[in-house]
Amino acid sequence: MHSLELSSLERTEALGSVLGNIVEPGDVITLEGPLGAGKTALTQAIARGLGVEPRIYVTSPTFSLLHEYIGRIPLYHMDLYRLADEGEVESLGFAEYFYGNGLTVIEWPERLGYLMPTERLHIELAISGENSRSANLTGYGQLWEKKVAEIVSMV
Ligand SMILES: Nc1ncnc2c1ncn2[C@@H]1O[C@H](COP(=O)(O)OP(=O)(O)O)[C@@H](O)[C@H]1O
Ligand SMILES: [Mg+2]
Repeated sequence: MHSLELSSLERTEALGSVLGNIVEPGDVITLEGPLGAGKTALTQAIARGLGVEPRIYVTSPTFSLLHEYIGRIPLYHMDLYRLADEGEVESLGFAEYFYGNGLTVIEWPERLGYLMPTERLHIELAISGENSRSANLTGYGQLWEKKVAEIVSMV
């Protein structure tokens, strides 16, 4: 596990920018943390790093569950907060996006249960101050295990 102190929104944006630049089709990033931890803010920054047009504002998809954006590669942004469990995730067909042609970013991955992708970058965000957040990054699977230290060094 690698830790980063995101002492301002700009630091969160820097992390998102690095991620948006290095991700490849099929990658999955899971974002865990309480309401207000910055999961959506980080996703917005990843979108900018992917070159999603700024006028296409990335909002919390809490009411629509899934938003798709066109950047260097497609971005699928899921917010599973309102789902009860993996049965609901499965019936919506969300798992079919994983390992596909874009980057999948998932808020509230706890809901995935057995559908949790085995290869993924997991980021746990916590509120450490009014404008600061702590991020713990864990790479699951060989590729992410290798990449995570590099990511942290680039932020
Ligand atoms: N360092 C920081 N990183 C991310 N967000 C921050 C930071 N400092 C303050 N914030 C604010 O915290 C809020 C995070 O909200 P949001 O991203 O919607 O959280 P979540 O999706 O985890 O519920 C935003 O209003 C954002 O501007
Ligand atoms: Mg959110």
